[in-house]
Amino acid sequence: MHNVAVILLVVTYFTWTLAVLHSQRQAVKHRYLLEPPVYAEVTARRGANATLPCLLQVKPPRYKVKWTKLEPLRRGVENIVIITNGQAQKGYGLMGPRASLRRAHPLDASLRIRNLELEDDGMYRCELVNGIEDESVVLTLRIEGVVFPYESVNGHYKFNHKEATDACHGQDATLATYKQLYRAWTEGLDWCNAGWLKEGTVHYPILHPRALCGGEKLHAGIRSYGPKDKTRDYFDAFCFTSITAGYVFFMGGRLNFSEALEVCREKGAELARVGQLYSAWRFRGLDRCDGGWLYDGSVRYPITTPRKRCGGLSKPGVRSFGFPNKTQRLYGAYCYR
Ligand SMILES: *[C@@H]1O[C@H](CO)[C@@H](O)[C@H](O)[C@H]1NC(C)=O
Ligand SMILES: *[C@@H]1O[C@H](CO)[C@@H](O)[C@H](O)[C@H]1NC(C)=O
Ligand SMILES: *[C@@H]1O[C@H](CO)[C@@H](O)[C@H](O)[C@H]1NC(C)=O
Repeated sequence: MHNVAVILLVVTYFTWTLAVLHSQRQAVKHRYLLEPPVYAEVTARRGANATLPCLLQVKPPRYKVKWTKLEPLRRGVENIVIITNGQAQKGYGLMGPRASLRRAHPLDASLRIRNLELEDDGMYRCELVNGIEDESVVLTLRIEGVVFPYESVNGHYKFNHKEATDACHGQDATLATYKQLYRAWTEGLDWCNAGWLKEGTVHYPILHPRALCGGEKLHAGIRSYGPKDKTRDYFDAFCFTSITAGYVFFMGGRLNFSEALEVCREKGAELARVGQLYSAWRFRGLDRCDGGWLYDGSVRYPITTPRKRCGGLSKPGVRSFGFPNKTQRLYGAYCYR
């Protein structure tokens, strides 16, 4: 009799344990938010609208969805873009006015960003806050663009980090991120001078190892100087830009710099920034064998189909004559309107 009671007790205990374990597994398995979508990266150009998908599987009775931009990291500050409780929504920060929820249907918490800017590039988190267990999905918004090296009118290695940031802004660009430089390298960027990146590190991308550029024995890759002192160390810059709203056109002639400024002004335009010339080359296939003044006082020309008569270079790219004497030297002009 006694034994039967013990056995019954043991069996009951096992059944109960199994039931608890099962319900715990169920609790862990249950998700309100959909897993990250098959494509966790959304790509778009500057000026376009983009949607980062985030869908509920089940609508909790009460909840909040919070969208946060995870990059660039600001020390201890959460970069909130928008918060919704399912009815009202509120935008925050610089992106707030351009952000909204798509709400294509009751389970849709996807984030729409209008009129994309270069700085919108990076990772975002969609977080469901329902009081029990928070869930989130991380997505990447990649601004499609072009990376270009930029040096000071005063020569190589003359920018600290702040000056490099300002120099890129002056050329209608931002300081490139490591991911942007990496992608540009995979697409063919090979450059022997080290430049600042947004993260505060210094690199140069090499596809063809050579003696004058760190040695032939090193492999192709992104060479790194590691983190540098943002205020005391001086390098060039890697800038990033995307498509522009306006377009670049060439004005021929033998012009000094002030005449070039004037020629563009007469056309209701301005001398182009370096970023605008790179953008026209990359996105609109601008191809010209003539050197032309740019706004920063440099002289460049964009080549999409390399040919012998045109510098004899084998690869497409934007060539630079550096910063020639503004009064003595005569070129055409690249204008932007
Ligand atoms: C972006 O969306 C706005 C309104 O939501 C629309 O007016 C605009 O034309 C869109 N822009 C592009 C490039 O599709
Ligand atoms: C440009 O050339 C003129 C005349 O030769 C000279 O006076 C001037 O210093 C030069 N400018 C620069 C920036 O080298
Ligand atoms: C540019 O050329 C024009 C016309 O030849 C001349 O009048 C002007 O002084 C030159 N400007 C400079 C800054 O040399």
